[in-house]
Amino acid sequence: MPLTASSRIVVHPGPSLSGTVSPPGDKSITHRAYILAALADGNTTVEEPNPGADCDSTLACLEALGAEVRREPGRVTIRGCGMRFSKPEGLLDCGNSGTTLRLLAGPLAAQPFRSTLAGDASLNRRPVDRVIEPLRMMGARLTAQGGDRVPPLQIEGGPLQPIDYDVRTNSAQVASCILLAGLFAPGTTTIRIGMARDHTQNMLSAFGVAVEVHDAGSASAEGRAFAVTGPAGLRATSLRVPGDVSSAAFFLAAAAATPGATVTAENMGLNPTRTGLLHALQSMGAEVQIQKTATEAGEPIGTITVQGPATLRALPDAPLESWSRAMPSMIDEIPALAIAAARARGTSRIRGARELRVKESDRIAALATNLRRLGVEVDEHDDGLSIHGGRLRGGTVDAAGDHRIAMAFAVAGTLAEGPVTVTGAREIATSYPGFVDALRSLGAEVDLPEEDALAR
Ligand code: S3P
Repeated sequence: MPLTASSRIVVHPGPSLSGTVSPPGDKSITHRAYILAALADGNTTVEEPNPGADCDSTLACLEALGAEVRREPGRVTIRGCGMRFSKPEGLLDCGNSGTTLRLLAGPLAAQPFRSTLAGDASLNRRPVDRVIEPLRMMGARLTAQGGDRVPPLQIEGGPLQPIDYDVRTNSAQVASCILLAGLFAPGTTTIRIGMARDHTQNMLSAFGVAVEVHDAGSASAEGRAFAVTGPAGLRATSLRVPGDVSSAAFFLAAAAATPGATVTAENMGLNPTRTGLLHALQSMGAEVQIQKTATEAGEPIGTITVQGPATLRALPDAPLESWSRAMPSMIDEIPALAIAAARARGTSRIRGARELRVKESDRIAALATNLRRLGVEVDEHDDGLSIHGGRLRGGTVDAAGDHRIAMAFAVAGTLAEGPVTVTGAREIATSYPGFVDALRSLGAEVDLPEEDALAR
């Protein structure tokens, strides 16, 4: 861990951020690579996986389920179980990671044993009814706490049947859970979903599973339908994980909000289901260049450069429908976008983002509280925020137990009129242990008051 339990970081206003970063491997893609590798037959090598605590939680759960894992710098090799996990001893600890818990529920529903997925205090408040419903339709027996709403989630695995399911929340985690369960169900399992991230579908193809794609063709879900036919086995493979656009987002948003700043992020995943932030920054007047250079395991990869205009404008108003459609492609980037909006001219109204209430923190509340602490006028809505942009003062904010809130307010320090102190900054290690080094490499002045005690 790069930051200690009580860690604070202090970021000073300074020269505009400039330079090139290579953020760590994509967290969503890493989880999927690990899980599919553990289900496959044979050895899979995952190069440049995300080094954060969330993906470590997935690895530890998979080891507890019988996968053999070898960790080396910048590489993890997994010997898979050929679709048959072994019964774990004790709880499967998913830590802070919703993706670990919701994705693993799928294959566990098909295993001939009972298992329990649990998390930390934050994860144990996050909804799991969204995976319980479809898995019960497939024939699995599941129970959870609080009226089957929150973890720990107990799964009594067994034979499954295929379903055809509209993912109403547009949650990629739910879609992935069902597709992974569908690998075990004899027949065709179909999910219908809006424009949500499709890494599981791409990764399944890389592991040799045919995934059919159609227009959703359903009244309740616009978007696409994806189908897998079981029982299916996975072929071990080797792959390199592209950089995480959700980690680059903080630097890119800060560059957009600083006249004349230029930040380039290299080796980035460019999956169009993830790049909504870039379109939003463009609509505010930032110059955004995207150059695709390669494709790996179905994922486009390339370079992103963002340049700050003389004046960043507020986000243009858009109908709720457009916001809702685009939101899955920028849901994890709203904290970064909110910081840019706080420095933009005019009022930015972010809508259709109710899901932010059930992330690692209630991100709508955490953003509103912390922006106000920095002197920004904010109206909090049930499904978003209106941010009256302009000035950002220095001050002290709290990460609310949430890595993305911590990183958003750390880069806010580079844009503010005085230093910004972020308490609870240890959460950054959830997804981006090298964040402080990267921020410094772009020219930011960052104090870690407990630096001596830290091995960054
Ligand atoms: C993720 C999907 C999104 C996202 C989360 C990671 C994934 O959540 O916010 O950080 O890896 O599938 P939902 O599936 O709940 O929308």
